Amino acid sequence: MDKIVGVKGMNDLLPPQSAIWESVEQQVADVFRAYGYAAIRTPIVEPTALFIRGIGEVTDIVEKEMYSFTDALNGEQLTLRPENTAAVVRACIEHNLLYDGPRRLWYLGPMFRHERPQKGRYRQFHQFGVEALGYGQPAVDAEQLLMIWRLWETLGLSVADRPQLQLNSLGDLSERLAHRQALVDYFSAAKDRLDADSQRRLQTNPLRILDSKNPDMAELISGAPKLSSFLGQASRAHQDAVCQALTVAGVPFQMNDRLVRGLDYYNLTVFEWVTDRLGAQGTVCGGGRYDSLVEQMGGKPAPACGFAIGVERLIALLEEVAPVAPAPGVDVYLAHFGENSEPAALHAAEALRSQGLRVAMHSGAASIKSQMKKADGSGAWLAAIQGDDERQAGTMVIKALRGPDPSKAVQQTVSLAQAGMVAKQMIQEQRTHSGA
Ligand code: HAM
Repeated sequence: MDKIVGVKGMNDLLPPQSAIWESVEQQVADVFRAYGYAAIRTPIVEPTALFIRGIGEVTDIVEKEMYSFTDALNGEQLTLRPENTAAVVRACIEHNLLYDGPRRLWYLGPMFRHERPQKGRYRQFHQFGVEALGYGQPAVDAEQLLMIWRLWETLGLSVADRPQLQLNSLGDLSERLAHRQALVDYFSAAKDRLDADSQRRLQTNPLRILDSKNPDMAELISGAPKLSSFLGQASRAHQDAVCQALTVAGVPFQMNDRLVRGLDYYNLTVFEWVTDRLGAQGTVCGGGRYDSLVEQMGGKPAPACGFAIGVERLIALLEEVAPVAPAPGVDVYLAHFGENSEPAALHAAEALRSQGLRVAMHSGAASIKSQMKKADGSGAWLAAIQGDDERQAGTMVIKALRGPDPSKAVQQTVSLAQAGMVAKQMIQEQRTHSGA
C-alpha cells in the first residue's frame, strides 16, 4: 500500500525536539503569568467573516492565504484561523468578558496560512500571543515590550543575540487617511514606475506599496510621504510615552517609519522584533495597538494592544545561539524479569510514582541485557530492576546509570517503601557529579 504523508508545510513535532518545545512553552507561560495574563483558548476553526472583517479584506492573509472551506454538512463558510487576535476579540464580545473591566489574556496554538513553505515559514505554525483588552494607556504597550524583553532574558538570550525591536506609530484614522491621500497623489504622479501589483494596490491599499520588495521601486518608495509627518499631538504624545518607558528600562529600539504590518486593525504603536540570525524569515514577534477592533467586531468600544511570537522562529533562534535544556524525561527505567513479572512491576512503578518519581516501565519480555540497554537510552538517571528474588522479598535493585564510572555503578537493594527516598538520593549524587 502507498503510505500517506503529512500535508506540505505542516510539520510533525517529534521527540526529542518536542521536549525543547515543552520547556520553552513552560518558560513563556511563566513570564506571561508574571504580568497578570490569564490563558484563553478559542477554536481553531472560525466563521470566515470574522477574519475578513477583523484582519481586512485587502490584506495578503485574507486575499490569498486563508484555508477556507464550506462545511459540507450545513453550508457554513469556515476558516482555519490564520491568527488569533480577531478570535480572542470575538470570544470577549460573545462572553461579555470586558463587562467587569479590562482583561489581559494569553494563548498558544497553531495558526494556518497558505504561504509558500520555506525555512521559518510554514502553512501550520504556532504562536504565543497576548491581548490586553480595554487598556488605552501607552504604559500597556510599554509593559508588553518590557515583558518580551524579559522573555528573551528568561530564555537565555544574551543582549547581543536578542531580536531587535523596531517601532513605529500608525497614528489615528484621520491621520492615516491624510497620509493615504498623500501617498495616492505621490504614486499616481509616478504610475508608470509602479509594478502591476502596486498599481492594483494604489486603488485598494496604497500603504502596502511601501512593503514592496521590488528593487526597481526602492528609490520611488524611499521618497514617498511619511506617516510620521501627519501625526497629531495626541499620537505623538502616545509614541513618546512608549519610547520613554523603553529608554528608562534600558530596552534598545529603533524607530522604523516604514513598518506597517500586514493586518489592517492597527493604530498608534506597531512593532516587530527582528533577528538577522534566521535568514529571510527573521521577524520573531509582531504586534501593536488596535483600538477600534472590538467596536468594529460589534462590541462596546475598547482600546487594546497585543502581539504574537512565532514559536518555530523563536526555537530556531534559540537553537542557533542559546540552546534550551529540554523538559525533563524520566528519572527511572524499571526493568523486570521472571515468570509473569509484569503485574508486580506495574505495582512497583506505581509505588515509585507515588513517591514523586517519573518512571518508564519496560513493557513485554526481554533479556535483562536488552532492558538495561533500553534503560541507558531512555535518559533516565536510574534503572530499577525486579527479578524473582526481589519480587518475592518486596524489594527492587536500584542502579545508577550516570555515575562517575559506569563499570563501578552504585547499586542498592531496597524495599518498595524506601525506594523513592533512596532513588532521590542517588539522583542527587549523580546530578552533583555531572553538574546538572
Ligand atoms: P503576525 O505578524 O502576522 O501578527 O504574526 C506574528 C508572528 O507569527 C510573526 O512575527 C512570525 O514570527 C510568526 N509567523 C507568521 N506567519 C508565519 C508562518 N507562515 N510561518 C511561521 N511563522 C509565522 C499576528 O498574527 C497578530 N495577530 C499579532 C498581534 C496580536 N497583534 C496584536 N495582537
